[in-house]
Amino acid sequence: MSNYDELASTALAQIDEAGTLDALDALRPTLFGKKAAITQAKKQLGSLEPDDRKAAGQALNEVRAQVEAAFEARRSDMAASARAVALESERLDLTEFRSESPQGHLHLITQARDRLEDVFVGMGFTVAEGPEVETAWYNFEALNIPEWHPARGSFDTIFVNLGEPEEVMLRSHTSPVQIRTMENTEPPIYIVAPGRTFRTDTADATHLPVFNQIEGLVIDRGIGLGDLAGTIDSFVQQFFGKDVKSRLRPSYFPFTEPSAEFDISRADGSWLELGGCGVVNPQVLRNCGIDPEIWQGFAFGFGIDRLAVMRYELDDMRELVNNDVRFLRQF
Ligand code: PHE
Repeated sequence: MSNYDELASTALAQIDEAGTLDALDALRPTLFGKKAAITQAKKQLGSLEPDDRKAAGQALNEVRAQVEAAFEARRSDMAASARAVALESERLDLTEFRSESPQGHLHLITQARDRLEDVFVGMGFTVAEGPEVETAWYNFEALNIPEWHPARGSFDTIFVNLGEPEEVMLRSHTSPVQIRTMENTEPPIYIVAPGRTFRTDTADATHLPVFNQIEGLVIDRGIGLGDLAGTIDSFVQQFFGKDVKSRLRPSYFPFTEPSAEFDISRADGSWLELGGCGVVNPQVLRNCGIDPEIWQGFAFGFGIDRLAVMRYELDDMRELVNNDVRFLRQF
């Protein structure tokens, strides 16, 4: 029997020594093939006495089972660690760390426009809009600026080559939204209309050919100049701060009567012009089918870009459209 023990320990030692899965697999014929020691021993069983043969056969089967078990155990160990090595080497690191990308923000003009809307909405106004390309009716005629009127010249209008000459244009102010609103809405009306406006101005420190205005229009019963002055004063204080004052200076616009420019006070005591305003001219109400005997109102309009320049003390209005991020990031 002892030679079977030796046979087993030799086989087990070979299994132990196999350093790789390939080396282990190469052992298979040596351990279990035709020429393997166990197979040979089995063949020799035939030459034994029947009694011995049975015991020896049993012992040999146990050896074979033991070697097979050791072989499979070692094999699955090695396969597992080989797989672990392969997995580790093929692993994709998906946990790349990216530094946070800088978050942008709204443009200064958009911020100013949003704040303006907030202030006026807080005062009970709603926000209206109109097209940027207008006809002479909305930009001029309905606003009481007939073709022959010298005020047309003061608007430096950019005309579009469509229809009759000087019939279609980029709106030179937001006042056409007054007309569109009155045509479509029954009074009372309380709207502000911010938007882009266009004039043939050359860009300089205080002008842009494409700029932004905000229009205000109130139509109700018994509205007068005092309501206009109070509304502007209240807006100015909310937007610029409690100690900023406003004043009206007589002026002229064909669509308001009386008309005024409105100024705001500066820290050094001087006044700065912000925009135009006035009591809605009864002719404008009539042009929109509103009876001036019943309804009255006021309107105002001013530049949002100019307001941003004042509020943030910019040196040059062109900075607003140069798109230099070093400038834009500051706000
Ligand atoms: N639309 C005028 C302008 O652009 C401003 C204005 C608006 C004046 C409303 C009076 C009333 O100059």
